[in-house]
Amino acid sequence: MAIRPVLKMGDPRLWQRAEAVRSFGTPELHALIADMEETMHALDGAGLAAPQIGVGLRVVIFGFEDNARYPDVGSVPYTVLINPVLEPLSDEIEEGWEGCLSVPGLSGWVPRWRYLRYTGFDPLGRAIDRSVDGFHARVVQHENDHLDGILYPMRIRDLTRFGFSEALFPDDADRPKD
Ligand code: NI
Repeated sequence: MAIRPVLKMGDPRLWQRAEAVRSFGTPELHALIADMEETMHALDGAGLAAPQIGVGLRVVIFGFEDNARYPDVGSVPYTVLINPVLEPLSDEIEEGWEGCLSVPGLSGWVPRWRYLRYTGFDPLGRAIDRSVDGFHARVVQHENDHLDGILYPMRIRDLTRFGFSEALFPDDADRPKD
């Protein structure tokens, strides 16, 4: 296991579409996921997609415990999600603050589907099928975007609501998680 460098916005690898995983349960896949976990935890992130460490595969991880610093977002179960497919469950859009380990120090106000079904596979190829809402739905949409070469600033509608976290949120407790 190793903490891997996270690519930052501007690196062309972040704009590429990632490839589907074809073999599950392999040592290579487990090693990739172990590196992603270690990297995400070292940087105190809420999620990480394989392209962020320069691996062009459709693998994301996300999740965090209820955190006193972020009382509004609750907890999201730790999940490894491979080859995700997303389906909005209503037309309702919800805007909320996001950060990203590839866009360090900044936050933006991003529209996402409020109600979401997502399917995909775990590292052993077992099916995942969940219907979620709110921040859980937001995190999955954010991570899935990385697999399609999209970073959250590309979705911001009002660029006055994009900036340095320390300027947007002088009170640290209000800052969104990366
Ligand atoms: Ni991100």
